[in-house]
Amino acid sequence: MTQLEAIVQRYYGDRPVIQRIDDALRAAGVDPQSPSYRDLWPFDQLHSRGIVATREQAQRAGLQAGMYVLDLGCGLGGSSRYLAAECGYRVEAIDLTPNFVEAARTLTARCGLAERIEFRQANAIALPFLDRTFDHVWSYAVTMNIADKEGLGRELARVLKPRGRFWKTTSCVRARIFQRRDRRFESCLLRQ
Ligand SMILES: C[S@@+](CC[C@H](N)C(=O)[O-])C[C@H]1O[C@@H](n2cnc3c(N)ncnc32)[C@H](O)[C@@H]1O
Repeated sequence: MTQLEAIVQRYYGDRPVIQRIDDALRAAGVDPQSPSYRDLWPFDQLHSRGIVATREQAQRAGLQAGMYVLDLGCGLGGSSRYLAAECGYRVEAIDLTPNFVEAARTLTARCGLAERIEFRQANAIALPFLDRTFDHVWSYAVTMNIADKEGLGRELARVLKPRGRFWKTTSCVRARIFQRRDRRFESCLLRQ
């Protein structure tokens, strides 16, 4: 594991998330053991503008019925549940942070969606999937955490089916450096 990956896991993984979500659900009058996936929206969308932004990305991404989708860096599984429950896609989800994967599984089971989404702990640059598996790779607020953009591009090109699509939204602070790295990543994807 690289130093950055260890930092990412520590940063996202050192909080007891389920307990906090349970408390917030109870305060909102929802039984934490059997929430609807919609009850989780205030807590499970780990990016700015929450479910509104997730919905926008789903509309723009050109997903079609029956597609097989990978949620890359799924966090608490908020996008995965949205894509499975609201759009009907088959979803696999991976995340580097074990705590998040465990919480994503628990929340998904409580919503009755466990049959529809498979969560695994994995690194985006070493995906545990066969070549040409997915129609679409979805990523929200993740790639800014990954330094090895060429490795990521190679892995995405490997697991996507021919004509499959990768769709990402990401954050950046130092726009010029970021854009340079991102261009390298995009050109690597295009070369594959
Ligand atoms: C800001 S959160 C976004 C989570 C989710 N996509 C969402 O929008 O709710 C970033 C996530 O990226 C994951 N992540 C960072 N680097 C990763 C990597 N190399 N492989 C897989 N997941 C990674 C983190 O563990 C964290 O869950």
